[in-house]
Amino acid sequence: MSTILDIQNLEKIYHSGDKPLTVLQGINFTLEAGDTCAIVGPSGSGKTTLLGLCAGLDRATSGSVILNNIKLDKLSEDERAQVRNQYVGFIFQNFQLIPTLTALENVMVPLELRGERNVHGQAMELLSRVGLAERHDHYPTQLSGGEQQRVSLARAFSNKPTILFADEPTGNLDEETGLRVEKLLFDLNREAGTTLVLVTHDLELAEKTDRIIRIKGGTVVSDEKVQVENRL
Ligand SMILES: Nc1ncnc2c1ncn2[C@@H]1O[C@H](COP(=O)(O)OP(=O)(O)OP(=O)(O)O)[C@@H](O)[C@H]1O
Ligand SMILES: [Mg+2]
Repeated sequence: MSTILDIQNLEKIYHSGDKPLTVLQGINFTLEAGDTCAIVGPSGSGKTTLLGLCAGLDRATSGSVILNNIKLDKLSEDERAQVRNQYVGFIFQNFQLIPTLTALENVMVPLELRGERNVHGQAMELLSRVGLAERHDHYPTQLSGGEQQRVSLARAFSNKPTILFADEPTGNLDEETGLRVEKLLFDLNREAGTTLVLVTHDLELAEKTDRIIRIKGGTVVSDEKVQVENRL
């Protein structure tokens, strides 16, 4: 097994208010390639912030993020974008679809950035996997929250990520659609060996992963392997 993500003494302090706000401190963990992991914890505990740092979307105040043996700390914004483009898929808590592009075009963007062939066909295939082929020409505002969530999933898959970060991937979905999305995520893990890091408030979903990292007040309070009998 090789280490895909190595987090060392990570700290994040925001300076936007009148006094500095320490959101994460002393975070340490490593993930092996192909692992599945859930990050759980109360609202405001720093889960989304942590995911963004792990994925190279944002930079830590101190500490290190080593993704696929690449140390992200000293990289420029452009260099981090390249690393993300090459290895990372991200499903945002608030989807972050591009509002001026249709569902299909949103899914096509990462494929085009990678210079793939048959971008249109591949994007349609991904949209059908999430059950949205018929809505391909709709804009995000014309889609429900759950539908936008699924476009976001298709877009993250289109990057053929080595590691996929998903922030509350089933948070806006009804039970049936949620289970479908879960299956897509775990299939991707099984079939492509994609490492999965999920943030979730759903403990049933968390228990389907290999490992649960619990954070509270910006620090890891427990980090445990999930018992095999609970697994999918
Ligand atoms: N850009 C920012 N500037 C200042 N404070 C921020 C910023 N982003 C997040 N925070 C604060 O950092 C803390 C952690 O936020 P974060 O979004 O990581 O929490 P979370 O665990 O994902 O919560 P939830 O479960 O509600 O999504 C919160 O108190 C939040 O207000
Ligand atoms: Mg969050």
